[in-house]
Amino acid sequence: MAVAVEPDARLKAFYERVERQSLRPLWLNTSVNASEPTGEVLPWLWPWKQMRANMYEACEVMPVGRDGADRRVLTMRNPTLPASNHGSSRTLLAAMQLVKPGEQAPSHRHTMAALRYIIEGQGGYTIVNGQPLTMEPGDFVLTPSWCWHGHAHEGPENMVWMDVLDVPLVRGLNWQFYEEYSEPKTLQPADKPRDDSLRRFGTGSLLPHWMGRQDAPYSPLFAYKFPATKEALYRLTDYSASPTEGYALTFSNPFTGGPVMPTISASMHLLTAGLHTQAKRNMTNTLYHVAQGRGHSVLNGQRFDWEQDDTFVVPTWCWQEHAADGGDAILFAASDAPVLQALALYREETYATDGGHQPATSTFTPAS
Ligand SMILES: [Fe+2]
Repeated sequence: MAVAVEPDARLKAFYERVERQSLRPLWLNTSVNASEPTGEVLPWLWPWKQMRANMYEACEVMPVGRDGADRRVLTMRNPTLPASNHGSSRTLLAAMQLVKPGEQAPSHRHTMAALRYIIEGQGGYTIVNGQPLTMEPGDFVLTPSWCWHGHAHEGPENMVWMDVLDVPLVRGLNWQFYEEYSEPKTLQPADKPRDDSLRRFGTGSLLPHWMGRQDAPYSPLFAYKFPATKEALYRLTDYSASPTEGYALTFSNPFTGGPVMPTISASMHLLTAGLHTQAKRNMTNTLYHVAQGRGHSVLNGQRFDWEQDDTFVVPTWCWQEHAADGGDAILFAASDAPVLQALALYREETYATDGGHQPATSTFTPAS
């Protein structure tokens, strides 16, 4: 606890001297004994209608390539974060990327890991370490740390996807490395068959045991397809849903059963019509993207209404409950849970009163 005394002349001189000597009295630090994570960073929501309109305007004002940006991306910055953090949460950043037909994003690699959740368009692909990965709505693909990656699009309509990266975590700790694939910048040529990892490991439970197990700490399966995920979710609906998760499936490394990457885990949550989860809170920072349907969430007592392709973030130790409105809803989620688990810092808690539901005392309104 901080010591609140009016410093006398000797104490004042002591404070001035130790400050000059780069020392700080611990008894002046009011946050050192905080009993739980502080709530300065708030949940936030980015509506798809706004995001899509902005992305299509970016198409008109910002070319990609030699005369423009490497990548046409709008990042979703949570305005309640400290000014030095440009993320959506303290550890994760969500962004929206649009690639027009015929465009290419040159290959590079960095220590920051990424996944890409596809929202609209057909005919785009990303090349990760020489492997072209087909991108279709509802799929997500991995770009693990330090893997080469670039994008190309040969379809007839714009491709839009959401990127989720651990940029705030890695950059915040000054652990970033970055490298261009070539100079001048080019797309890495494909040297593996298209969707190679999906062919080899895509069933998850049938593995070619003579190949694929690798030393790398991420899933060798680089693409997770939406139709198979959706089918797996609906196979569970004869069972009782988790009271706090709905029907939830975590994407895993098929060899280890662990998370898809060491810093980001991914899951898909089906909320059947009328299902309203009970509130819980945990240590993760979690980004949700509405894969299908509409509904609302109550986050620390504030109501967030959402519809298809909206994105929202739930920060550390924030009460969260989710409900489908007007039919089934499916939420894609990406979180920093593997980091917390690796550091043995993960905690969670369920909301014990009022049937597990918080009173909603306000409603989130996005800025226009
Ligand atoms: Fe990148």
